[in-house]
Amino acid sequence: MSMYPVILSQTKFIHRDSLTFPIEERALQFGDGIYEVIRIYKGKYYLLDEHVDRLFRSTEAIKIKLLFTKKEFKNLLHELLKRNEMTEDGKLYMQVSRGSAPRDHVFPKDVDPNIYAYVQTQPRNLVTLKNGVSVITHRDIRWENCFIKSLNLLPNVMAKQEAKEQNCYEAILHRDGRVTECSSANVYLVKDGKIYTHPTTNNILHGCVRMAVERFVQELGIPLIEEAFTLEDINEADELFLTSSTSEVTPIVTVDGLAINNGEPGNITRQLQVAYEKDANIVENLIENYA
Ligand code: PDD
Repeated sequence: MSMYPVILSQTKFIHRDSLTFPIEERALQFGDGIYEVIRIYKGKYYLLDEHVDRLFRSTEAIKIKLLFTKKEFKNLLHELLKRNEMTEDGKLYMQVSRGSAPRDHVFPKDVDPNIYAYVQTQPRNLVTLKNGVSVITHRDIRWENCFIKSLNLLPNVMAKQEAKEQNCYEAILHRDGRVTECSSANVYLVKDGKIYTHPTTNNILHGCVRMAVERFVQELGIPLIEEAFTLEDINEADELFLTSSTSEVTPIVTVDGLAINNGEPGNITRQLQVAYEKDANIVENLIENYA
């Protein structure tokens, strides 16, 4: 993945090599900040409003006051794509920290937040979209404010690494057997034509792709039941899938080595993949070709 040269730093556009931070930066020392990852298709943001709304919800939840409106911020993000002349598939990473100040747990006074954003290439993962992925299950040991897209990702990193070491793509997280989400995606179970997923409480991140899926199911007439499913339910599942800005709608075909739907992506998952491609204006319609 290659990074584009122009990045956004505060409200200025600079070369990526000229961004520096003092040692005493609260994101570095405390993970005191939040982030967003936004998908880009052919040089255009997908679900931008949803991501910017969530960014404002996250900063408000941790009492960081942003110095711009949503509209001003969206304009800056559009300008970032323009300045880089980006036209391909990619993603934006951005983070907001409480700022730079002498190390002290207490919030610093009169310090502005530090913000940066950059864009990089990211082709669609057509192999996993087509064939599906294997996942493990893992205890959810995170804090109780997972609706905030916090920079504190250590439990997520540990769970994802555990998955990787077992040649798996993701870890399905559970609290006492009730499935919350994955380490970096939302997760859903299909049984008897209905989709089940954890309600959007503090225990999960309300994914922007999930918000899109909530729209798709209404158009498709598929019931979406916001109810946590359990590890036992997985044994009886017709289909499983996960969603995120980087994974889109990805079928899950094995869980802890157990095949779901004989190891094949299911029909409802495929319908949602097609809906996703339409919604994101993906012209190749690759999913439709192999569904
Ligand atoms: N992760 N849940 C968690 C814990 C996540 O980290 C993510 C996204 C999601 C899905 O959110 P969305 O649909 O808005 O991408 C759910 C991003 C992609 C990341 O950390 O890289």
